[in-house]
Amino acid sequence: MSGRIALLAGGTGLVGGACLRALLRHPEYEKVHLLTRRDVPELAHPKLSQCVVVFNAPETLKLPACTDVFCALGTTIRKAGSQPAFRHVDLKFPSPLPA
Ligand SMILES: NC(=O)c1ccc[n+]([C@@H]2O[C@H](COP(=O)([O-])OP(=O)(O)OC[C@H]3O[C@@H](n4cnc5c(N)ncnc54)[C@H](OP(=O)(O)O)[C@@H]3O)[C@@H](O)[C@H]2O)c1
Repeated sequence: MSGRIALLAGGTGLVGGACLRALLRHPEYEKVHLLTRRDVPELAHPKLSQCVVVFNAPETLKLPACTDVFCALGTTIRKAGSQPAFRHVDLKFPSPLPA
């Protein structure tokens, strides 16, 4: 192990789930911190640490130290209910994540 630590948001979705599985089996990653809005016990894995956060309250986000950030958060206008709500999830939510 070379000590890489991933921070992943959106790991419960289609794209993020594929990213999560790739990170968990990647030998260079010793830890994956998953930011979610809900506890997801079925994703339990020895390398995984789940952090339940309120994406809508970025001032409350306490992000764990990491070497790499992956963001697969996203929605659709239909799911979000409106264009502004869609933009909020797709553009605002990722913005407090480290660049
Ligand atoms: N699917 C594709 O083929 C594809 C291709 C190219 C690009 N993309 C882009 O990749 C991104 C993810 O797509 P996807 O298909 O993986 O979407 P998805 O399966 O719907 O997953 C969306 C992720 O974002 C989270 N999320 C959505 N709304 C949220 C909210 N209001 N608060 C907190 N978390 C929220 C979901 O969490 P929950 O599980 O808690 O809902 C989930 O982790 C999108 O921007 C999409 O446009 C997708």
